[in-house]
Amino acid sequence: MDTIRIVGGNKLSGEVSISTAKNSVLPLMASTILCGDKCIISNAAMLEDVFVLGNILKSLNMDVQIDENSKRVIIDSSKINNTDPKNELVKKMRASFLIMGPMLSKFGHFKISLPGGCNIGTRPIDLHLKGFSALGADITIGHGFVEAKAKKLKGNKVYLDFPSVGATENILMAAVLAEGETIIENAAEEPEIEDLARLINSMGGKVIGAGTETIHVIGVKNLKGTNHKPIYDRIEAGTFMIGAVLTKSKIQINGINEEHLKPIIAKLREMGVIIEIDNCILRINGDVDLKPVDIKTMPYPGFPTDMQAQITGLLSTIKGTSVITETIFENRFMYVQEMNRMGANIKIDGRSAIIEGVEKLTGAEVKATDLRAGAALILCGLAAEGETVVSDIFHIDRGYHNIEEKFQNLGANIERI
Ligand code: EPZ
Repeated sequence: MDTIRIVGGNKLSGEVSISTAKNSVLPLMASTILCGDKCIISNAAMLEDVFVLGNILKSLNMDVQIDENSKRVIIDSSKINNTDPKNELVKKMRASFLIMGPMLSKFGHFKISLPGGCNIGTRPIDLHLKGFSALGADITIGHGFVEAKAKKLKGNKVYLDFPSVGATENILMAAVLAEGETIIENAAEEPEIEDLARLINSMGGKVIGAGTETIHVIGVKNLKGTNHKPIYDRIEAGTFMIGAVLTKSKIQINGINEEHLKPIIAKLREMGVIIEIDNCILRINGDVDLKPVDIKTMPYPGFPTDMQAQITGLLSTIKGTSVITETIFENRFMYVQEMNRMGANIKIDGRSAIIEGVEKLTGAEVKATDLRAGAALILCGLAAEGETVVSDIFHIDRGYHNIEEKFQNLGANIERI
């Protein structure tokens, strides 16, 4: 199994370009089921999850070509001939549940393996299924599968108990070809949902208010193929920003959207970090005195849970006490043991991590427990004294494309073994 080896202490310098967002490319790919035509997603991040979803769509008899050179994902859904995807593929990736809504909308049916929990939480899909029922689908769960049937979906009002990203995306996609209007209230407002609505509207759909807490979807009869360029990955950008501050470096990050990064920029500035924005270029200077802060993860536009581990790594090196509270997932501190093995001083108290800043971290052999935890351990390794070896990096490859090469180009002593 590959590992990533880092010798810490190097300052970073130069520029890094951000890829497009995993959490956008996946729902965009799923939504192509709706149009029964050819779509091109350009400049797509060539991530493990993108290939897994590509194979799941192929198992529905969709034509999927993923061209690593041009970074184009070309999908033709005109020949779909079944609505129960290959189970062993679905089990590989939680986000495969994003095909439920488009299949129900297009074919009035899906049968899919129930996603299990993952390291960060139980992650049920009850809100997705409640939304589908509200649009008139009959849902049955049994033998580890969930099946939904509907002669004709009908638009309806759906109030989400929690602004779930996945449930908002799935119900939005289910409503696109339904009869009449659907109103999703207390919807998630993440930028990836706005991006999804942009693609669906360019296919001929009618989605209004994506990116706000109330989304209106006016059902249409047909859609056509389209081309789409996804948004940049705000979490990848945030990860490199933390890398710069942890190593007390000045770097430039190309391909950002300031609006999407607001909660991260605000917290780093509160710590004392200097950040300048020039259109889609961000210059960050982490070679400054820093002060501890408290953070609570929240749905967008609050502080993203997908940045929680990375910023905890940074706070573990800042003198004083910081408290970080995780409100989205119930089990997203698995990495703390590993960070404490690197000399951090972090205690867990319920859904909060109490962080006492230490003078320096020391290199160690550590294990990635999930995608963002893995990225955080790499960042700590860049700042730590001596050698760090991160194992189980398959988690990291799911959401970061060639992360070690990007840091090598910034002057880090890092390699994949
Ligand atoms: C998306 O997951 C992202 N994944 C996650 O990114 C991200 O952490 C999360 O949104 C929150 O921002 C993708 O976009 C592919 P949710 P999703 O539904 O849609 C509970 C990463 O690192 N919930 O907003 O699964 C759920 O258990 C990943 O890139 C229900 O209770 O997240 C969780 O506690 C990790 N019932 C909370 O809501 C439901 O039916 C938020 O989940 C649905 C969700």
